[in-house]
Amino acid sequence: MINGERTISRPLRWGMIGGGRTGQVGYKHRTGALRDGTYQLLAGAFDLDAERGRDFGTKLGVAADRCYATYQELIAGEAGRPDGLEVVSIATPNFTHYEINKACLEAGLHVICEKPLFFTVAECEEIEKLANENGLIVGVTYGFTGHPLVHQMAAMVNKGMLGDIRIVDMQYTHGFNAGDDVGAGEAVRWRTNPKTAGPTFVLGDIGTHLYYLSEIVLPHMKIEKLLCDRKAFIPTRAPLEDHATVLMHYDNGARGRLWVSSVDAGNMGSQRYRFVGSKASVEWSDSRPDQLIYEVQGEPNRTLHHGMPYLEEESLAVDRMGALHTEGLGDSWSNIYLWIAQAIDAKNRGDEAFLKTHHYPGISAGTEGVRWLENCVRSADAGSAWVDFK
Ligand code: NAI
Repeated sequence: MINGERTISRPLRWGMIGGGRTGQVGYKHRTGALRDGTYQLLAGAFDLDAERGRDFGTKLGVAADRCYATYQELIAGEAGRPDGLEVVSIATPNFTHYEINKACLEAGLHVICEKPLFFTVAECEEIEKLANENGLIVGVTYGFTGHPLVHQMAAMVNKGMLGDIRIVDMQYTHGFNAGDDVGAGEAVRWRTNPKTAGPTFVLGDIGTHLYYLSEIVLPHMKIEKLLCDRKAFIPTRAPLEDHATVLMHYDNGARGRLWVSSVDAGNMGSQRYRFVGSKASVEWSDSRPDQLIYEVQGEPNRTLHHGMPYLEEESLAVDRMGALHTEGLGDSWSNIYLWIAQAIDAKNRGDEAFLKTHHYPGISAGTEGVRWLENCVRSADAGSAWVDFK
């Protein structure tokens, strides 16, 4: 169980680029980072609007002279200080990720970046090389993948409790873009423009969460082929999609399907996962994150609750709240930030042995998400044809 006791020798000197007052995801980063004494928020270039960013930063407790107008000023300003930053989180729109990652890594800063990491796998590989050459960690924040019941599913699959995995069924949909974009705010405008969002809208925005979570639960299974059908129900969003279906063939013969949509009118937002094996199935949804449905063929169905001693040790080890109290998204983000802090600490100490066995969403998690998106787009653009996964 995680209880807030510090697991690295000192807090990391941490800053943020983006995630300002009006940003959607910024607070989730701070919720995750400032929980276990592993990060100290010391500086930021929080906002495109420099004045608003400074005002916001000081209200978060950051010194005014360390609230910078741009990320370039942040890098230059912090480089000159004996107590300068060592790790930066990037919570800005997708099109800025690559250039900000590159600049931070070149300045010797570890990076924690939002998904989708970059636009292309080639960019991911270049950034991975740069990080490796400079001895730095790149972490990626897939929100719910720190949840104890996600790790319960992974442990159950790993221990053969479901038998051979046959079917993967996933959904992440909401209805918040069911109407058109007239008068839409900044976060919708950049998400629906290929110049700022990249080659996808909902596939990258929410589909990558499904894909990475399935990689955690099914690390032994690789996609061989996929077929993606995507559509913009609101025509102004084309060529980007607001709805997509993906079919997947895995190398063990399993079949997968998922759908992602932001035009699922009336749906307030839900991700749902069902992994079906030859003996049993598990099903988990973020609308009831404390519960895992475990169904064994021929037996009464069971509902497993987080934090209970009957769960696997892999799940109990990452539980924070204990069984009596609900555990959710903020707790999951804290686990992700903790694991990345432990990776940064190990990298700083040159402890490669620790890094070999330590689980955290690193650059390969970001790269695989971008690779999956590239394959989806290739399939969709070929008229929803099956394509070999490469
Ligand atoms: P947003 O548009 O709501 O906020 C972006 C923030 O970044 C704003 O504060 C803006 O002023 C600031 N900003 C933009 N460009 C900047 C720059 N060059 N320098 C400094 N600050 C800058 O966007 P949102 O929804 O927060 O998304 C940001 C990123 O987070 C995206 O990559 C998105 O895909 C990802 N995201 C991830 C989630 C997750 O669960 N992991 C959830 C929501 C978003």
